[in-house]
Amino acid sequence: MAKLKIGVFGAYRGMTMVNVLLNHPDAELVAVCDKFVPALEKAGKTAKDVGLNIALYESFDEFFKHDMDAVVLANYANEHAPFAIRLLKSGRHVLSEVLPCETIQQGIELIEAVEESGLVYAYAENYCYMDHTFEMRRRYENGDIGDIMYAEGEYVHDCAGIWPSITYGERSHWRNNLFPNFYCTHSIGPILTISGRRPVRVSGFITQRNLTVPPLGLKSGEVGAVEMLTLDNGAIVKSVHGHLKREPGSVNYEVYGTKGSMESQRFPPSYQGERPDEIQVYMEGDTVCQGTMERYTPQKFVDGDLAKKYSTHGGSDFYATHFFIQKILGREDGMHYSIDVYTAIDMGICGILAYRSALNGNAPMEIPNLRNPDEREKWRNDTACTNPAIAGDQLLPCYPSGNMEYPDEVFEKVRNMWLEEYNA
Ligand SMILES: NC(=O)c1ccc[n+]([C@@H]2O[C@H](COP(=O)([O-])OP(=O)(O)OC[C@H]3O[C@@H](n4cnc5c(N)ncnc54)[C@H](O)[C@@H]3O)[C@@H](O)[C@H]2O)c1
Repeated sequence: MAKLKIGVFGAYRGMTMVNVLLNHPDAELVAVCDKFVPALEKAGKTAKDVGLNIALYESFDEFFKHDMDAVVLANYANEHAPFAIRLLKSGRHVLSEVLPCETIQQGIELIEAVEESGLVYAYAENYCYMDHTFEMRRRYENGDIGDIMYAEGEYVHDCAGIWPSITYGERSHWRNNLFPNFYCTHSIGPILTISGRRPVRVSGFITQRNLTVPPLGLKSGEVGAVEMLTLDNGAIVKSVHGHLKREPGSVNYEVYGTKGSMESQRFPPSYQGERPDEIQVYMEGDTVCQGTMERYTPQKFVDGDLAKKYSTHGGSDFYATHFFIQKILGREDGMHYSIDVYTAIDMGICGILAYRSALNGNAPMEIPNLRNPDEREKWRNDTACTNPAIAGDQLLPCYPSGNMEYPDEVFEKVRNMWLEEYNA
């Protein structure tokens, strides 16, 4: 069988997918696109080192014309949906990095492009495939803790130290222009894939600004964000993420069910800067309040030999690409584990609607079930976001009380810090 011809758009985070594709038995990396030439050249050299000549494009329009079965989108986080729609309409399967859409309008258009094309759209929410979260999914699907009642998802990553190397001192970089609840799928995503449940209601919260951090260019300021969700069975979920102080950051999850609970290990005794990899599982027995507690390091249970080569992000960085390929090929693991467009949009619009809630005194917002065409109409023209190019007259501030403004010197300073680091 011929290998799938796959291209990658965005060669920074996209290098993760480049590396998976260069070693995958069912796929062939054929092209990479990035306007930043050093990143593009690095991708070309990485391919050459394993004996492959790939096409390199600075322009998306030229890349688009390349003969490809599928494309990985690792471009700007707020621009995935329009590129995904264009690619689906041209007959290409799409794997999208986080986030799935910038507005609810885009989410609906993306769903409809997937439905009309009949092609595979997969969401690369790799936090769902970390050793701890993926094992929790296996245990949940095994019925070990019953039905979800309460869960917490925590993605705390104070990016202040790496801001120069991830925004390059660009005033218009998406990371500088987000609203605080936007980047919510690392904390919410695993809870939805573990439980298989749909969120139906959300209230959003945002902390005060941490003004002790030197100015780096974020219009929201350095803040933490919380989403409180209700799931379709009545369970409650707390999701927390953002720029809170904890080193190393926290990627922790806990799930309480009707018959037990599971949690990741926040403070393992041997903690030495690595991500905690143990989980604890409590299962109630036949007598109430009596059961067993296990504590162990999860082992990979799907295609472990291939997956073990990729240790980044808690061992998760192989699976999103792998399950995408498996789903295109109609294989069972891909059909089961790849995250489809409906679940992706569920994850993403939790953050969009949580921010609307935060702007409205934390009032709860109903989350539409966009699987149902009738529920799309009310939201079809909803372009509210913080991006003036997309929002039209529905432009939102990046923080409820208004944007922080920065003089050009702040961006010059951040750019110089990045260049110093880059050229070192
Ligand atoms: N899942 C994870 O663990 C994880 C980690 C880091 C980043 N990400 C995601 O990866 C994506 C990319 O983030 P990043 O960290 O690589 O930083 P980034 O967004 O700054 O980089 C994107 C890259 O795409 C290129 N690009 C964007 N638009 C382009 C265009 N129109 N034409 C040509 N090139 C273009 C840029 O030059 C840049 O090199 C984002 O969606 C982000 O959310 C995910």
